Amino acid sequence: MFVVIALGISIAPYFFPPPYSIFVLVMIQTLFAVLISRAIGLPYWWLWIQGGIPVGLYLGVALEFNPLWALMIFVLLWLLFRNVFSERVPLYLTNQTTRQALKKAAKELSHIQPKIHFMDLGCGLGGNVVFMSQQRGVELSTGVETAPIPYLFSKLSSWIGGGEILAQDIWKTDLSDYHLVYAFLSPEPMPKLWQKVTDEMQKGSVFISNSFAVPNVEPTDIWQLPDGRETVLYLYQI
Ligand SMILES: C[S@@+](CC[C@H](N)C(=O)[O-])C[C@H]1O[C@@H](n2cnc3c(N)ncnc32)[C@H](O)[C@@H]1O
Repeated sequence: MFVVIALGISIAPYFFPPPYSIFVLVMIQTLFAVLISRAIGLPYWWLWIQGGIPVGLYLGVALEFNPLWALMIFVLLWLLFRNVFSERVPLYLTNQTTRQALKKAAKELSHIQPKIHFMDLGCGLGGNVVFMSQQRGVELSTGVETAPIPYLFSKLSSWIGGGEILAQDIWKTDLSDYHLVYAFLSPEPMPKLWQKVTDEMQKGSVFISNSFAVPNVEPTDIWQLPDGRETVLYLYQI
């Protein structure tokens, strides 16, 4: 950061004379942060972060922002998005159209497995678990979640609406008793998850991944859903 400011101050006199106010120095820092981020090819959204931090720090100091607030916001974000740090999986939620597709998948599976055990790996706020617990033919609907706030929220929803929520890591969850396993995660864990799925799930059971295909594995079926985000479900019959 200081190197960038030093660089900016060395170049700025060619364009306008010193002395510079703190605000101008912050703007120089912001400009260079954005330009360097662009030059080294960081994704577009990083430019907002790189540009926003110097301005945010400046405003924080100018407004005498109590740093305890920053700590509290960080703790709140950690409680909500803890798995971004370890798994690169944030919290975003399955929509109603996709839930209807899960219902359809359960109905199709019920022809060969009349008492379905459903699992949502990383169940977020628990909406899928509650929904699937209410479907005919679903005997057990389970979700596992390790981010504290989503876990508490989903636990509460399941008390009210049905299903079971476990404070458990995906990687420590035994899938051998589940016939329909659903995941909406990110590209990052898919190869490792596929290894787990094929090691543990029984023949004939179905693994569904929302949006993220398993690399180099041909899905049994692909469902393109008619929702706004054009959700794609990848179905793998084990
Ligand atoms: C994209 S959200 C999907 C939430 C929910 N399944 C849905 O579709 O609405 C992914 C969730 O997986 C959780 N998660 C990520 N890695 C996990 C892990 N190793 N163990 C348990 N939960 C995890 C995250 O905390 C997040 O809530």
